[in-house]
Amino acid sequence: MLKEYVSKTSKSKALYERAKKVLPAGVSYGIRYFEPYPFYTAKAKGSKLYDADGNEYIDFWLGHTALILGHSPPAVVDAVKRQLENGTHYGTSHEPEIKLAEQVVKMVSGAEMVRFANSGTEANMYATRLARAYTGRSKVAKFEGGWHGGYDALHVGVHYPFNIPESAGLTAGALQDTILLPFNDLEGVEEKLNDKKVASIVIEPVLGAGGGIPVEKEFLKGLREFCDEKEILLVFDEVITGFRLAPGGAQQYYGVVPDITVFGKILGGGFPIGAFCGCREIMERLDSLLHKRPYYSFHGGTFAANPITMTAGLATLKILEDGRLINKLNMLGDNIREQLREIFEANGVDVQVTGVGSIFNTHFTKEEVRDANAAFRADRNKLVDYNLKLIENGVFFLPTHTGALSTAHSEADVQKLVSETEKYAKLCGK
Ligand SMILES: Cc1ncc(COP(=O)(O)O)c(C=O)c1O
Repeated sequence: MLKEYVSKTSKSKALYERAKKVLPAGVSYGIRYFEPYPFYTAKAKGSKLYDADGNEYIDFWLGHTALILGHSPPAVVDAVKRQLENGTHYGTSHEPEIKLAEQVVKMVSGAEMVRFANSGTEANMYATRLARAYTGRSKVAKFEGGWHGGYDALHVGVHYPFNIPESAGLTAGALQDTILLPFNDLEGVEEKLNDKKVASIVIEPVLGAGGGIPVEKEFLKGLREFCDEKEILLVFDEVITGFRLAPGGAQQYYGVVPDITVFGKILGGGFPIGAFCGCREIMERLDSLLHKRPYYSFHGGTFAANPITMTAGLATLKILEDGRLINKLNMLGDNIREQLREIFEANGVDVQVTGVGSIFNTHFTKEEVRDANAAFRADRNKLVDYNLKLIENGVFFLPTHTGALSTAHSEADVQKLVSETEKYAKLCGK
């Protein structure tokens, strides 16, 4: 197994041996490791990654789904080059941060004001604090299989079984105020929260790490009503769905507006970012001129609103703003899901292809996949096997992780995914 991968990645193997000595597991993020060792990327352009041995991979992982325009899109690169000449980091206020905030406010219904951070994790952390500050409540709720980054209070119930701590070092104190909810199950949510006062419910409109599983529209509407009734702030973690499902994100796509929205990934135009936004009344809790301790909610950071990131993000949003490219990608996503389903079905392999718009994943199971429980019950070894076979043949999904499309993907790229899947399905079906 993977003989071919091993035979053509000798430089990556050597890099892995070196990396293991100085980087735990040889990587900078645990999920980037896969068997027998990850390839090490030397270069990326458009829809392709090139590893240290010169192998080419069509990239459906896209830097954790961040690169909706593909790698190094010329318009973004040009804007960044101009900004580089004017400074890489100011640590003072500047116009690019205003421009990007204005652009977000223009595109996103739930955003009247914005604050920028450096990662989705950080933005979720500050959004949680803001919700607590605004409501004066301590408890927060999140969904089974929901991934919001490594912030203690939200690093709960991500992997099945959901009751095992996700990491060592999480204290009982950090976790005791977090309530875990069942996804796509309004009755279950009401049952869990009926007698509780919670500051916020945070939801990924499409479970990303949880399996590429979309929220059901009726459920999301019901959740909005439930939050209104109980005076709970509804937080959409749109780190994946933001500027991908629609120019205004999942809230536009589903027609349900949250109280706080968290962004990351695409908003940075290929550079590190996080952001959280909401209506003026909530966001002004971050204004220390208006709210003094202990009512003020802190946010900040050395690299917050880095001008390179702001410039790259603005160039990206300008390209996505009219929705034309996003609609095209969404249609392509529908088409790919359908084709993958048909291929596996024709070969007698039980598969559920999940996702919505340009986000998709495959689960080897007969069972309908409506939540992360079902995704984890599927045959994950088979999914790893499928993903590794694709990698061996030059198509990259980070094993088990949700894939995405970019405007850089060509018809030939998609055709290659389809034909390699066909080969795999034939092998499986035997
Ligand atoms: C939905 C969602 N929220 C938050 C995060 C955390 O973002 P970051 O990795 O930038 O900290 C991620 C990352 O994958 C994510 O998918």
